[in-house]
This record gives sequence, structure tokens and C-alpha cells, in this order.
Amino acid sequence: MESQKKRKIKITGTGFYAPDKILTNFDLEKMVDTTDEWIFTRTGIRERRIASEDQATSDLAVEAGKRALKNAGLKVKDIDLIIVATSTPDTIFPSTACWVQKGLRADHIPAFDISVGCTGFLYGLILAEGMILSGINKRILLIGGEILTKVTNWKDRNTCVLFGDAAGAVVLEESDDDSGILSYYWRADGNLGNLLSQPGGGSRIPASVQSIAQDLHYLQMKGNEVFKHAVKCMGEAALEALKSAGLKREDVDYLIPHQANIRIIEATGRRLKIPREKVYSNIHKYGNTSVATIPICLDELHKADKLKKGDVLVLDAFGAGFTWAAVVYRW
Ligand code: UT7
Repeated sequence: MESQKKRKIKITGTGFYAPDKILTNFDLEKMVDTTDEWIFTRTGIRERRIASEDQATSDLAVEAGKRALKNAGLKVKDIDLIIVATSTPDTIFPSTACWVQKGLRADHIPAFDISVGCTGFLYGLILAEGMILSGINKRILLIGGEILTKVTNWKDRNTCVLFGDAAGAVVLEESDDDSGILSYYWRADGNLGNLLSQPGGGSRIPASVQSIAQDLHYLQMKGNEVFKHAVKCMGEAALEALKSAGLKREDVDYLIPHQANIRIIEATGRRLKIPREKVYSNIHKYGNTSVATIPICLDELHKADKLKKGDVLVLDAFGAGFTWAAVVYRW
């Protein structure tokens, strides 16, 4: 399952899109019984972006995809597969990836979604590696897009302060040098499914007047328990992936964890004994955008010229399922 191969795939373009509308902690003070101080000290979040009523996940994903293609110096015709990671699809079917394909006018390349919770972007990288190195595809557009605020219960202060909307994208192709994915580690545990879920609207509890009256179409979470598993799982994933790459924690230039909570991010850094300045975080600006957090971090670091050739990155995430994964990447 884990790999350290000579042939690698690499990221040749990055991009992200976040809606313009900003919801601050002070705005939330007017909506539920909370304070800016509680939210910031418990989560590290100051503000988050909110999609407009007429925006769906594919709208954000199309924009992020266009930006990644532009950054790679490529046109839509240059890609041969679209993978979208999301837990908030435009529609249960067709897949969001098909709406993205339509939006990009990427006729008629294959397109599909993966549903892995917040770990979706990393599962997507691992999947893309397999597709490219096996010769099935040459150039893949991988997008993580999410509008969690449309499945958020705005009366539940335990969850509504946490999430934001955005999409992040990368273009992937076979590496012609030393850069690219060095190793990965991925796991899932369906026994923990009830800790974080959107119970209604699927085939277990189809949407009905009753399911809506019971708020089952909203995201539900046992925050404390998710927190504990998150730190443990992300620590395990990063260490195993580093071991598989034959690297040590001292070799890491940036740990880029899923941005769920600044306390989870910092605890993961401490567990891995990676100094705080090497642990990237932008959660104060965007909140938890699920599958979009890691590609947004990558794009920010890339565009700010903070990534030097040869830098070792550890991308590390956990999410609903439970799923967790880490990817070690040489820039
Ligand atoms: O991508 C994965 C998605 N999810 C996550 O990563 C979430 C992981 N979990 C967390 O980030 C944290 O568990 C939370 C931020 C959700 C909660 O932080 P916590 O330190 O675990 O707080 P808690 O749930 O133990 O709650 C402490 C207190 C409670 O009050 P009492 O019972 O002590 O009186 C809560 O009712 O804080 C209260 N509380 C709030 N107070 C003000 C919960 N939410 C709020 C709020 N404002 N928004």
C-alpha cells in the first residue's frame, strides 16, 4: 500500500478559489451564543468564506481548476482526467466532477468524484499517482472543493463556527526530475463513521419531512472525540509515510496539515517534534474548508515563493469515515 518508487508524479500547477463573502467571528456572535475570544482560542479561526446562494461546489472548483491550469501554463485540452474530492456535491448524481467538466468545457474526458471526507485531496493524489504511473492518464486535474456551510446547522454553536467554503486544485503529471510524491500512507476505519457525518439524504435515511424536522440533513460531529483521533491518526500517518520515504522528521521543511483546528495542527506538530515555524497554517483566514485546506496551503506557499526546489513537504490529513493519510512530497 505504501510506496517509494523511482518514477514519480509531480504538481505542475496550483490554484484556489474562495468566495468573496467573509463571515467573521463577530458576525457569529450575533447568530449563536459564542464569542470571538472562544472561537479564536479554541480553534484559531478569525473568519471564513461563505458561498453565495447561487454558487455550488462545482462553481468554486471550476475557478480553482482554471487557476491551477493557468499556473501550469496549460489549457483545458491538455488534461485527460478530472478528479474532484468533495463531501458536498452539487447533486448526489451526476458527480460534481461531471459538472466541473461541463464548466471547463473539457469535452469528453473522464471525470469522477471521490468521497473521503477531509482526506479527499490526499486520497486523490495517491489515486492520481496510480493512474499516471500505470499509463492510464498523462495529466490530471485534481480538485478539492467544498461548500460545507450549506450543510451546516446555523443554530449549533458546536459546529457552525468551524467551517468555510473554498476549492483548491493541482495539475499532476509524471515527474522528469527528482521532485514529486516520494511516499504515502492511507487508512480508513468505518467503525468511527458516526463521529462525523451527514446522516440524512442518502439511502439509509432518505430526505423526508421528518428527516428535515430532525435536522438530519446537517453535518453532525462529536468534536472532542474527532479531535483525539485526529491528532493520533495524523501523527501515525506522517511517521509511517516518512519511514516509507526513508526520511526523518529533521528532513521535513514543511508540515502541511489539514486545517481543522489550530490546536490539532499544533498538537500534530508537537507529536512529530517538528518545530512550529515549519508547520504551515492559514486557518485564521478560511476556517476548515475540508478537502480544500491542503491545496490552498500549497498554492499560498507556492505563490509566495516559499517553496524551494528540493524542499520536503509532509501533507497530512484526517476526515469523516474515518479516513487519514499522509503524502511525503519533494518540491
Ligand atoms: O475536518 C474535521 C472536522 N472536525 C474537526 O476537526 C473538529 C475537531 N474538534 C474540535 O476542533 C474541537 O473539539 C471543537 C472546536 C469542536 C470544540 O472544542 P473543545 O475544546 O473540544 O470544546 P468542547 O466541545 O469540550 O466544549 C467546551 C465547552 C462546552 O461547554 P460546557 O459543556 O463546558 O459548559 C461547549 O458547550 O465549550 C462550549 N462551546 C462553545 N462555547 C462558545 C462549544 N462550542 C462553543 C462556541 N462558543 N462556539
